[in-house]
Amino acid sequence: MGRKLSPEEQPWCIDKTTGKVVINKGVENVCIDKSTICFIDGFHSKLYYRGYSIEDLAAHSTYEEVVYLLLYDKLPTRRELTDFSGWMREERDIPREVVDLLCKIPRDVEPMEMLRTAVSFLGNLDPGRYDMSREGMVRKTIRLIAKIPTLIAYWHRIGLNRELVCPDPRLGHAENFLYMMHGERPDGFSARAMDVSFILYAEHEMNASAFTAVVIASTLSDYYSAIVGAIGALRGPLHGYANVEAMRQFDEIGSPENVEKWYKENILTGKKRVMGAGHRVYKTYDPRAKIFREYAKQFAERRGGKAKTYYEIANKLEELVMTQLCETKNICTNVDYWSGIVYYSLGIPVDLYCTLFAAARTIGWSAHILEYIAENRIIRPRLYYDGEVDKEYIPIDKRT
Ligand code: CMC
Repeated sequence: MGRKLSPEEQPWCIDKTTGKVVINKGVENVCIDKSTICFIDGFHSKLYYRGYSIEDLAAHSTYEEVVYLLLYDKLPTRRELTDFSGWMREERDIPREVVDLLCKIPRDVEPMEMLRTAVSFLGNLDPGRYDMSREGMVRKTIRLIAKIPTLIAYWHRIGLNRELVCPDPRLGHAENFLYMMHGERPDGFSARAMDVSFILYAEHEMNASAFTAVVIASTLSDYYSAIVGAIGALRGPLHGYANVEAMRQFDEIGSPENVEKWYKENILTGKKRVMGAGHRVYKTYDPRAKIFREYAKQFAERRGGKAKTYYEIANKLEELVMTQLCETKNICTNVDYWSGIVYYSLGIPVDLYCTLFAAARTIGWSAHILEYIAENRIIRPRLYYDGEVDKEYIPIDKRT
């Protein structure tokens, strides 16, 4: 037997005004730094990147413009945007060794695990991988943002045993991605929907994956390690993988007629959570979900078939969430609830949806890494020790 520590012996856990132990499980509402990148007003359904509302950016900008904005803290002039997009286009190709690697990764791994490995390997092949100057980090950011869509499209086509479609430098970031996936240029509405999806997923303050990236960067580790860590965090179903799980949930429900029964059996009994609902910060509707929802609706009308069925199931389930979970626990549908229906309508297989989130979010992670290490302090929280100390050490032969 040892002895338990008293709270007074762990003063870092005690609130000075109340004298009580405070544990911020899940690091909830703990501010770790100042930032000028993103603001979420979770009570009024508002999201801003560098001060610009997500509605304005989704209505008027391109993803390239948003990447520029997040990196340089200003919207580009037309000239700046042309130069910057040109730079991104030049970086799209991936080295032959990486294509070979994609052919060797077992096909049954989750695409996020492929991405983790491939991004790590891209880091191995980058001669500037240890350059932690701002310039060097920006170069690596552009390199990854440009190459990740190529990795995803090549992985997809390798799986289908189809010829790879090289990036087309005449096309914008989102349009080129769909072209590499499907081997033909998308129509204007589809290209714009893809572009808006990249904008909506580009950044979201100090979420679990951004935090992971910043924790890694704060040790002065390298850029690629930070991004690989962030990909690992995003892959969990409570975070980015929720967009895959939301679609599997709609599949499980099967038809709009089955929504109520499914909800009763799974949500009311507490067996399952609604995937694509709830958020640590939003206590009202996620503004990104509103924009995705509108695209999902338009696709349902244009495409009909399964896109329409998904939309109808999602709509019906959302009504239950908004009238029951939202009323009682402020649980509303979030970005990952609707995005999958848009991706499905764009002909993208469900298992890739979290990688699309990562492709878009690499800029957000990078912006946070850059901002944090500019005035770096290693991230090192504490725990409240609830075990015992001063236990008698028993030699191995005397242990029972
Ligand atoms: N469905 C049903 N009940 C829920 C849900 C949900 N999706 N989310 C939270 N709750 C309940 C939860 O059971 C708890 O109830 P009670 O107080 O009775 O025990 C209460 O709401 C608070 O939940 P919590 O787990 O303490 O909340 P959190 O802030 O720790 O978790 C969350 C946030 C996003 C992990 C959680 O809402 C969740 O698991 N959602 C489903 C997965 C999901 O959609 N994730 C995507 C998040 S948004 C974008 C992204 O990061 O990718």
